Amino acid sequence: MTNKNNKTRTETEQALLKQQTATGRYPAVRPRRLRSAGWMRDLVAKHEVTRNDVIWPLFINEGSNNREAIPSMPGVERLSVDIIIEELKPAIDLGLKAIALFPVVPEEKKTMDGAEALNQDNLMCRAIAAIKNAHPDLGIITDVALDPYTTHGHDGLVENGRVLNDATIEVLAQQSLTQACAGADIIAPSDMMDGRIGKIRAALETNGFEDIAIMSYAAKYASCFYEPFRDAVNSGDFLKGDKKTYQMDPANSDEAIREVALDLEEGADMIMIKPGLPYLDIVRRVSETFTAPIFAYHVSGEFAMLKAGQANGWIDYERALMETLLSFKRAGATGIFTYGALDCLKLLDKRTKK
Ligand code: PBG
Repeated sequence: MTNKNNKTRTETEQALLKQQTATGRYPAVRPRRLRSAGWMRDLVAKHEVTRNDVIWPLFINEGSNNREAIPSMPGVERLSVDIIIEELKPAIDLGLKAIALFPVVPEEKKTMDGAEALNQDNLMCRAIAAIKNAHPDLGIITDVALDPYTTHGHDGLVENGRVLNDATIEVLAQQSLTQACAGADIIAPSDMMDGRIGKIRAALETNGFEDIAIMSYAAKYASCFYEPFRDAVNSGDFLKGDKKTYQMDPANSDEAIREVALDLEEGADMIMIKPGLPYLDIVRRVSETFTAPIFAYHVSGEFAMLKAGQANGWIDYERALMETLLSFKRAGATGIFTYGALDCLKLLDKRTKK
């Protein structure tokens, strides 16, 4: 049907073209007509970034009134929970729907096995409870992985230099439960172990948390674009080796489809693709193949590049940010994790007031 219609239209256009060429008027088909004025461009625009599209990742610090800059992520800070609660107020007023939390765990609490991840009173759990209490209508997405808590910086348990899969997913299921108990709305495992979604789903179901959603980092690539994040959570200096035995090889695309299919089968509600911009082909393929909501992470290194361009006076950060976020939407993402979330909300607000 569509083909037939397209063909008919093409034939009509061709006929018109032929006729008008004969009368000396060429070209008759002028795509520029639809770009001729702002109102026209708005009228025909197919994709848009809205306040419902951005999720704000936040780095949580211990203590109170504790604010620390992250040199490789200009404008982003590690914040204690009291400051986060304050800073969320204007963001929520601008339409922020959800945040993603990442704890900066003090060195003395890091161990080989990352046991602090299971402490019901750890920084993450205290932050979840306090933020939920202050802002009950804001969605809280929590990171499940051991890297903020381990002395070696890996996302799982390590034995003889190997990152163990099956032992790790038992711990991740427990970690998910501690976050669920504290009040998390969406559990987001970013570790890339096999089978962890099924384990986590079963743990949530059997413990009365059947309404908690799982956002699986299903296709997470072993990427150099995470470096500033590792500075932010202080795991970079410790990381022994790399994460290539569990995160995906950037050389693969079909494998992402397989990973996403497995995680959906195991009970994931939504899917995360990461990094974002260099992997928009994956976002496009996954969004065309599956019907579940697809999120993409505009990761720390991507954000740092925009900020570096701005600092050098080479690019306009605000325009580059909005154009980048729009490219995620065009590729098929339902939502975007971005450190520029608040900047984006402010810019959208300015636009509507214009
Ligand atoms: C680790 C984790 C990483 C990020 C989110 N969770 C880094 C890594 O895999 O080493 C990166 C996010 C970013 O770069 O913004 N579980």
